[in-house]
Amino acid sequence: MPSKRGEQGEVRAVGRGGDAVVETSNGVVLMPGGLPGERVELMLIGSKRGAARGRLMRVLQPAAERREPPCADAARCGGCPLMIASPEMQREIKQSFLADACRELPGAADTEIEWVDSPAKLGYRRRARLAWHWDTIGYRQLHSKRVTPIGECIVLVEPLREAWDALRAYLAPSLRGGGEIQLQLTDAERVVVDLRADDDQRPELFDACERLCELPVVAGVTLRTGGDGHAASWGETRVAIQAGTSGLLEGPGGAFSQANDRVNEKLIEAVVRLAEPLGMRVLELHCGIGNFTVGLAEQASALVAVERDPLAVDACQRNLKRLGRNARVTVGDANRPPKGRYDVVVLDPLRQGAKALFEGGALLPGPKRLVYVSCDTATLARDLRLATAKGYHIDRLIGFDMFPQTAHLESLVRLVRD
Ligand SMILES: C[S@@+](CC[C@H](N)C(=O)[O-])C[C@H]1O[C@@H](n2cnc3c(N)ncnc32)[C@H](O)[C@@H]1O
Repeated sequence: MPSKRGEQGEVRAVGRGGDAVVETSNGVVLMPGGLPGERVELMLIGSKRGAARGRLMRVLQPAAERREPPCADAARCGGCPLMIASPEMQREIKQSFLADACRELPGAADTEIEWVDSPAKLGYRRRARLAWHWDTIGYRQLHSKRVTPIGECIVLVEPLREAWDALRAYLAPSLRGGGEIQLQLTDAERVVVDLRADDDQRPELFDACERLCELPVVAGVTLRTGGDGHAASWGETRVAIQAGTSGLLEGPGGAFSQANDRVNEKLIEAVVRLAEPLGMRVLELHCGIGNFTVGLAEQASALVAVERDPLAVDACQRNLKRLGRNARVTVGDANRPPKGRYDVVVLDPLRQGAKALFEGGALLPGPKRLVYVSCDTATLARDLRLATAKGYHIDRLIGFDMFPQTAHLESLVRLVRD
């Protein structure tokens, strides 16, 4: 374990997790709070997974792009590590994640990275996962069970911020033990609150949920408690989401939805444009409640959509029917899709990516085009290596700033057969 002493170093880059990669005379140290080109003084605090870790003590030479973060809790919370950088530098850093994921892969050198900005840099986020520990409500620290209390989270859309205030006032005094809270925007102005308690809860919490649900900003509340797994709900707990110009999608409260409505609108448009589904047999994996399905179904000659969550599949089928579109939507594992001949495959996995899909023979005979939507450039890099080893090359790369201020990036990569 290194000693707790000051070290000076130069920030070489910001890594995928948002930590600065600092070059010191004793080697590389990872540390939150630094920007490329800066000279910093840090304290070594240990090592994790073989990498030395540090804590920022002083910025000796700040980058010209350094900004005072607009959130008072930015350093303590850690959820928005790029809030200290100008929007231009945030973009450069995130583009470097995508460039690194594709480096030396077939097609990458000839493919320019396109960029889609978020019109809102703050107040954009339409869903949030919080946690509680007794009466403290906040975000969970990365890789930890600890809950950091936050005064106000300014990347959330206004109704979510209002709902969070209401949680503190109405629920916090009655909460027991620990649990998770999901807040999700519905109808563009109200919030669905989903509470999952690790422990049994007192009757007062049930009364408090009922009162919370009477507020104009709260559409509905679900409470699942530990022990007997009892669930109760108040108000309207389904969500309604405007999926760009594709139409209004409805789904169960816990179903996945993209975090930033304005960027999602551009993502849907780009997925459909790059898939070129007109007259094609399309396979869509990880379809959720139909965010891309509706647009793809409008043009494809045949569309098979796969999703593992039966409630999302049910919602997707209803959404297609309501909007007058046609597709076969099935509950299943995207890594073992229904056999068939597909011209185009669209996939949008969770952060774990789709290793098993590319390793197996599920995509044989190979479709002409793969349109891969990714929220994690580390697993994207791995999967692109697997796909290009099977004879595909990259021909379009687009970064979407779905999560400004954070180190997360949404990427869209199109691969075509050589
Ligand atoms: C990132 S979300 C994307 C959903 C949708 N494309 C959208 O834009 O809203 C990933 C989805 O994949 C689903 N999923 C995760 N693993 C899966 C698997 N092995 N097979 C099928 N679906 C899976 C999740 O339930 C979730 O709905």
